[in-house]
Amino acid sequence: MDHTIVVVGTQWGDEGKGKITDFLARKADVVVRSQGGNNAGHTIQIDKQKFALHLIPSGIFNPNIKNVMANGMVIYPKALFEEISILESRGITNYQLYISDRAQVVMPYHLELDDLMESLKGDQAVGTTKKGIGPAYTDKASRFGIRIGDLLYKESLLESIKMALNYINPVLKTFNRETFNADLIADEYFEYGLKLKSYITDTSLLLQDALDYHQKILFEGAQGTMLCIEHGTYPFVTSSSPTAASVPLASGIAPQAISEVIGITKAYTTRVGGGAFPTEFEDEISALIREVGHEYGTTTGRPRRIGWLDTVILRHARRINGITGLSIMLLDVLSGLKQIKICISYELDGRIIHNVPGNYRDFLRCKPIYSTYPGWSEDISNVTSFEELPKNCQNYLFAIEEFTGVKVTIFSVGPDRKQTVSLKRYFE
Ligand code: IMP
Repeated sequence: MDHTIVVVGTQWGDEGKGKITDFLARKADVVVRSQGGNNAGHTIQIDKQKFALHLIPSGIFNPNIKNVMANGMVIYPKALFEEISILESRGITNYQLYISDRAQVVMPYHLELDDLMESLKGDQAVGTTKKGIGPAYTDKASRFGIRIGDLLYKESLLESIKMALNYINPVLKTFNRETFNADLIADEYFEYGLKLKSYITDTSLLLQDALDYHQKILFEGAQGTMLCIEHGTYPFVTSSSPTAASVPLASGIAPQAISEVIGITKAYTTRVGGGAFPTEFEDEISALIREVGHEYGTTTGRPRRIGWLDTVILRHARRINGITGLSIMLLDVLSGLKQIKICISYELDGRIIHNVPGNYRDFLRCKPIYSTYPGWSEDISNVTSFEELPKNCQNYLFAIEEFTGVKVTIFSVGPDRKQTVSLKRYFE
């Protein structure tokens, strides 16, 4: 019985995790975001209404679900209030939201530092979302961070901000950047604390209660495995680990508590920001995929880079995350293509390799080796079972299973909640 499911991105983010989370959340009691911040962007479509979530877990639309923003997150309060007010203005007023007292706070100087660090890297810039995520995690690690719970104590909050600015302001000054006033920030963030007070709690205890009562818990991933600071294409990664392995640490539960890990996988590959991307290609087909798949960043609006499906990175993601089932997203976007390619291994300096190399410069030189499959012309957007899929589309899914060694347990044929076919009964 799967009481706890982790939804994890297997590629470079934007795989459609929000949709599957929303789909599974209908049966969940608790939905948890455990890492990242408003660098993430989930688009959820409910009855033709589109919602973009950046910080708030996708269970927010269901008043019976507890939504948890756990200790591993970095939270920019301004962005959170904005998100809450957009939801409320669109009628989502009855919800349960809990924020960990241990989550880190994104401070205004983190945004400035993010911009500064990117500019210093020149053509090696990561292409961050400039939301201050990296500097917030840096301050966490160097113990200059401010936690959500700290916002409730004005005097100590001011002291902590002063201490952080003791090193940050001189750095900013050196590069002719705006410096910050600790008193003003403390006043502003203390007010935020008061506004957040009713949401703040020890979410690890809340989750323990949910586990003790065998409630159904969904851990919603942000970003993707290839953006993991440990196992991704470092240094072109985010500053936390978006893998299933990080979930226990980042939410305060035991590792044994996880029963299923669903790997969310786009039927092709996309990436925003810089960094190696072996199956990337640019021609009229990639342009078509970008338009049909609306491949523009939810958070930044940037056009996404497009590539064929890469099963080398999927095998990497499977191993790192312990994926128990794949969810293939945006399958309908490939309808109408004459041929579809799947990368099965790489050629690196004349050698065939089957794994993602640890060195990023090696990864840059990897050339994809493809298997090519005939496409399908039928519109599959109304398909409700595997059997209704055209034979070539079925074969494409079989090939994905063969090269990854994981069963496809869900596929998605359009943006609406109804256009999701689950071949396995999750949370039942
Ligand atoms: P940061 O997380 O803003 O520091 O950005 C680091 C890298 O991760 C950049 O390449 C971003 O484009 C990428 N990134 C961060 N969050 C997401 C996401 O939710 N989807 C896709 N890419 C992301």
